[in-house]
Amino acid sequence: MAMYDLGSPYTIPGKEGETVYLCQCGRSTNPPFCSGAHSGTGIEPLAHTPEKEGNIFVCGCGKSSNIPFCDGSHNK
Ligand code: FES
Repeated sequence: MAMYDLGSPYTIPGKEGETVYLCQCGRSTNPPFCSGAHSGTGIEPLAHTPEKEGNIFVCGCGKSSNIPFCDGSHNK
């Protein structure tokens, strides 16, 4: 399944100070994390380090205006 075929957000647990690399190209084979499939696209993953514990909502529909994060556009 391609990253944006999910049609709803990926929910991943964010841990304070623990960096995750989120796919921004949509080609990842391990969404929502970068798998290296962006090679040659000129797009790099986003290194995201939460400042506190809590879920991270990553876009799974490709419509977000705040990629890689969900902005609720999957509901429109
Ligand atoms: S695979 Fe998409 S940014 Fe790396």
